[in-house]
Amino acid sequence: MLILGIETSCDETAAAVVEDGLEVRSSVVSSQIELHSDYGGVVPELAAREHLRNIQPVVENALNAAELTIPDIDAVAVTAAPGLVPALMVGLSYAKGIALGGSLPLVAVNHFLAHVFSCFLDHPPLTTDAKLYPLVALVVSGGHTNLIVIQADGTVEFVGRTLDDAAGEAFDKGAKILGLGYPGGPVIDRLAKKGNPKSHRFPRGLMGEGGKPVADEDILNFSFSGVKTALLYKLGDTQKNESETADLAAAYQKAIVDVLAEKLMMAANKFAAKTLLLCGGVACNSALRSKTAELADAAGRKLMIAAPKHCTDNAAMVGGAGYYILRAGRFAMLDTDANARLRESVEAVPFAPEYNLKP
Ligand code: KG4
Ligand code: ZN
Repeated sequence: MLILGIETSCDETAAAVVEDGLEVRSSVVSSQIELHSDYGGVVPELAAREHLRNIQPVVENALNAAELTIPDIDAVAVTAAPGLVPALMVGLSYAKGIALGGSLPLVAVNHFLAHVFSCFLDHPPLTTDAKLYPLVALVVSGGHTNLIVIQADGTVEFVGRTLDDAAGEAFDKGAKILGLGYPGGPVIDRLAKKGNPKSHRFPRGLMGEGGKPVADEDILNFSFSGVKTALLYKLGDTQKNESETADLAAAYQKAIVDVLAEKLMMAANKFAAKTLLLCGGVACNSALRSKTAELADAAGRKLMIAAPKHCTDNAAMVGGAGYYILRAGRFAMLDTDANARLRESVEAVPFAPEYNLKP
């Protein structure tokens, strides 16, 4: 079954064709980074207008790259939440038009769960394997920092979340403080390779540092406001040269990465995870990828990290997750609405192996 996936929840206009949920036949992403860089973040109305301009050529390019046309497609899957509502509405309306015009089923996909699913893309046999469950997933992007537990029947429990900034925001705001531009994650990642991560000591939020006890309910939660403020103070008023900036970037990155990786392992222990998943834009980070791999290896736990091209926003993860939603018979109606927020009571994960066995 061929699914056309469409994604416009933030600042990437993306379309992809995915076969049977896992085989990515094409994936096209048009980024608006330049457009928003002067603002240090995404401006919703500008993003929506740019999606409006880009959506047609992006979908056409995805179909061309897969050597297909609309009549070959079996269904349209589109991100409906969470995200910037004006941006979501462009993709959703466009997908409804294609579904209506081609008499195709429409599938509404939760962007957050699509990120989780991205770990499975290009790994055919794994999704349906109950031996991998329970899964503990760490979703780290510009909008989310969440630890979730997924059982083989698809039930999802949110067990950790950020109390202030998302991990991606911590990178973006840190880069802004250092005068490095937007988005901050990739720049800090690159610059940190030239710096010494031990050059500065940054606080690790909610890790019980300095004997400060962490409340039970916050053990798996995150806080990045302290590390950001510490960066502001360390930078001070004096101009830093490139090597000093690289040292700050390396130490700042390590403070964020250490907390993310260690809390993922704490959740894995607490919930007896058989498999760990790491996904979302921040999962591109080279230090985070190697630190989680090192800790998972030492603990003898299986870790699946989304491929870098599937970590940042893309439509392959939407088309892939959409296949399982469709298989479960969860069609979307033409009056489906866009939603800004991630509800911590998301529906069961449709790609879990025992999901379809439920009455
Ligand atoms: O998943 P994504 O494309 O969009 C959202 O759904 O938010 O994530 C974007 C975030 C940005 O904050 C960006 O700075 C961060 O992912 N990011 C990175 C890296 N590449 C992207 N953060 C750290 N290191 C990277 N290499
Ligand atoms: Zn995303």
